[in-house]
Amino acid sequence: MERVIALVQGDMQAVEERFRKNLASDVPLIGQVGEYLLASGGKRIRPMLLLLAAKLCNYSGDHHIELAGVVEFIHTATLLHDDVVDGAELRRGNRSANAVWGNEASVLVGDYLFAKSFSVMVGCESLKILQLLSDTTTQMAEGEVQQLLNTADLDVDEERYLDVIRDKTAILIAAACQVGAVLADASDLQEAALREFGLEIGTAFQLMDDALDYVADQQEFGKVRGHDLEEGKMTLPLIHAYAEAETAEKEEIARIVELDKLSDADLDRVCDLIDKYDGIGFTRQRAAQRIELAKAQLDIFPPSEIRDALCTLADYVVARNK
Ligand code: IPE
Ligand code: IPE
Ligand code: MG
Ligand code: MG
Ligand code: MG
Repeated sequence: MERVIALVQGDMQAVEERFRKNLASDVPLIGQVGEYLLASGGKRIRPMLLLLAAKLCNYSGDHHIELAGVVEFIHTATLLHDDVVDGAELRRGNRSANAVWGNEASVLVGDYLFAKSFSVMVGCESLKILQLLSDTTTQMAEGEVQQLLNTADLDVDEERYLDVIRDKTAILIAAACQVGAVLADASDLQEAALREFGLEIGTAFQLMDDALDYVADQQEFGKVRGHDLEEGKMTLPLIHAYAEAETAEKEEIARIVELDKLSDADLDRVCDLIDKYDGIGFTRQRAAQRIELAKAQLDIFPPSEIRDALCTLADYVVARNK
């Protein structure tokens, strides 16, 4: 990954400067909350993908910096809202913004970031990109609402789960890749390949996030382990274990998923069942398959350092532990 980061380092610095500028507001709380989150790290996967996709298609203008900032802004807005909805107290190893400033501030600053993203986008003077990113944020909201409706619903199967993760997560990653192609005025074929690439790695990305929610080292992952279960989230490790479980085990899972407060013993019990039916291995395997499909999409581009970097980034998605 170091080489990938080095390839976009100069551009990423410019992107970070743009963030700061776009956070400037007469209302100090906006800058405080925004800065708190942006300065707390974050892998910056989405802007890196946009920059690499634009490079892959030989883009030579300067809107890529602004738009890379926009996708990270949109991502940051969704994280602010997501932590309120999920009742999360930890983000990137720090107290979440809602834990520090409260839900109201998080929701409102998230709204500011969304709104600001759109005004920056308009400045890029591409109706196609504006349409693409508007459709993207609309679909992301649908994904989050659908996930809410699926809470503690044991009938959620792999297919319904995949619909949710495509909408809530993969769509934005796909859009980041596609914007790179659109900016560069790439062929329809190239644009579609980059979008598909993003959809596949975006799906793999959420599959891994959902596996890591059960098994990651909390320190490294920076989020509370077992939180999805506590929130009644039907994610693939659990869906798989439930589908394979015996009747008595199914009843146990059903009881635990319904609980508002999860005890350590309950979490351990579900982790044991996920272990017994290899829910994590199953999820990892699904993610790995997606990554192979993603990389195959890039075959239409001639071999290059940038194409290799995109493949490295794709591999990182399944290898990561944070
Ligand atoms: C977290 O995204 C939300 C998901 C879609 C799983 P990231 O894992 O990209 O978060 P940061 O920006 O690196 O913290
Ligand atoms: C993230 O899903 C989806 C978003 C679009 C923010 P999660 O709720 O699993 O993300 P984390 O684990 O809190 O980062
Ligand atoms: Mg969350
Ligand atoms: Mg969530
Ligand atoms: Mg998660």
